[in-house]
Amino acid sequence: MTDRPIVITGAGGFVGRHLIDALRSAMPQAVIVATSARLRSGVDQALDTTNAQQVDELVRTFAPAAIFHLASLSFVPDADIDPEAAFRVILQGSMNVARSALRYSPDCRMAFVGSSEVYGKSFSQTDDPLDEGAVLNPLNYYASAKAAADLLMGQFAHMGLAVVRFRPFNHIGAGQSNRFVVPNFISQIVAAEQGRGPAEIKVGNLSAVRDFLDVRDVVRAYVLALQRPAWKGEILNIASGQPIAVFELLDRLIERARRPLTIISSPDRVRAVEIPRAVGDASRARSVLDWKPLIPLEETIDELFNLERRD
Ligand code: GDD
Repeated sequence: MTDRPIVITGAGGFVGRHLIDALRSAMPQAVIVATSARLRSGVDQALDTTNAQQVDELVRTFAPAAIFHLASLSFVPDADIDPEAAFRVILQGSMNVARSALRYSPDCRMAFVGSSEVYGKSFSQTDDPLDEGAVLNPLNYYASAKAAADLLMGQFAHMGLAVVRFRPFNHIGAGQSNRFVVPNFISQIVAAEQGRGPAEIKVGNLSAVRDFLDVRDVVRAYVLALQRPAWKGEILNIASGQPIAVFELLDRLIERARRPLTIISSPDRVRAVEIPRAVGDASRARSVLDWKPLIPLEETIDELFNLERRD
């Protein structure tokens, strides 16, 4: 690596903060430029990735050695509410970043963070964990936008940009918005324990099966990739390979509750269309990056309870 900076877009979000920590500990000398749509603590510069001029200016100014492009929507149902906005942020934003990189910092590496959601219907075709060869078959606007951007990044790789495309599966950890299932259930449980909420837990579709990782394992894969030779459009699933149904997850959370709770099924939490089972095969990341998830789900859950009970 040169002494040119590493730019992170979407650095003010849940994953961004963990990525900064991981980069700082693995590469203490690295200069990090943390950008986010809004200036907030931990963010060096405001950057709206949907604004091509702003992106050009930033890339021209810093000529980064690498860009971690995290800026995105992250809550799947948001994209169904405003699909145009989802495509603007996910597709147009990614195109702006890749174009600026190729124009103003052509030897820069770009890490694109996509999603396992892109496989969509392909998950239903087999019980085996899906690898990167599975067909992109999105089922919702979030997934289509991520799939379109993922393909576009492949095109930029052909055009000479050093791109890596990550397809991470569900990840959880400190700082995640409690709109997502794990922090949401934990916050309801702790609110009930502390008398701030009813002795109940509202839930959506409990039969969905997902593949959960600790966010620190995910960002460790991102940092390891940076320490590998230049990228040529590689695609890497980041997955645990361990299926867990949301009802099993709920059981593990309720086991830790300090008071009895009634489970209430809430129709507004059930999505019109979603992937019934999403499990990933990350063999390629395991071999290319010499990576594997290290933090057991139980440990992450315990930490999240501790944090929530302290707040
Ligand atoms: N949020 C939420 N709230 N989800 C619930 C609830 C609930 O009350 N009850 C059941 N679920 C189910 C959802 O229907 C879904 O099947 C699963 O729990 C996980 O939901 P989320 O935590 O909202 O995550 P996601 O799977 O939709 O998407 C996450 O993972 C993707 C990668 O696999 C997000 O982090 C995406 O940004 C990411 O791309």
